[in-house]
Amino acid sequence: MKSKSGYTRFLVPVLAAGLIVSFSVPAFAAGNAKRGKRLYDQYCTPCHGTNGQGDGTRMKVEKFDPAPRNHTDGKVMNTRTEIQLFKTIKEGGKAMNFSHIMPQWQHILKDKQIWDVLAYVRSLAKNPEWTGTPIPPDPAAEKKQ
Ligand code: HEC
Repeated sequence: MKSKSGYTRFLVPVLAAGLIVSFSVPAFAAGNAKRGKRLYDQYCTPCHGTNGQGDGTRMKVEKFDPAPRNHTDGKVMNTRTEIQLFKTIKEGGKAMNFSHIMPQWQHILKDKQIWDVLAYVRSLAKNPEWTGTPIPPDPAAEKKQ
């Protein structure tokens, strides 16, 4: 009995640590862009456009200024870290000193869904494409938006 409880005392913290690691790591792992596209088509395209170019139907009618970000512009989008984009989507533009027109999604999308939509947003960036490492900011590209 004595040795069993000693074993349990050792095993429980090890299992607990394992659980923490295995649950927290996937929360930060890359989302699923395919699932993300479905969410993007539903919630984001009215402003950001069907192809993510910032020219959605609501933008055309309401003429937001600044315009919804062109997600296909790799020169701007790829300067952002995962955490920056995650926070913008979750807490809204205002939380990141962007326009308050960019809504917060934390009451509609679960964190996992935000990672999925973020993975899809990353896949839209072109010239250059997203490599997994943020590039240095290009003030000229940012001003063009
Ligand atoms: C009501 C219109 C609207 C909707 C809907 C909307 N956005 Fe935005 N979004 C904006 C605007 C406007 C900006 C630009 C803010 C700025 O430049 O100050 C923006 C900016 C962003 C940025 C910031 C990019 C950067 O420069 O770091 C991300 C990321 C983003 N939106 C993702 C999303 C996602 C994902 C959805 C859907 C879940 C979404 N947006 C839905 C209007 C919208």
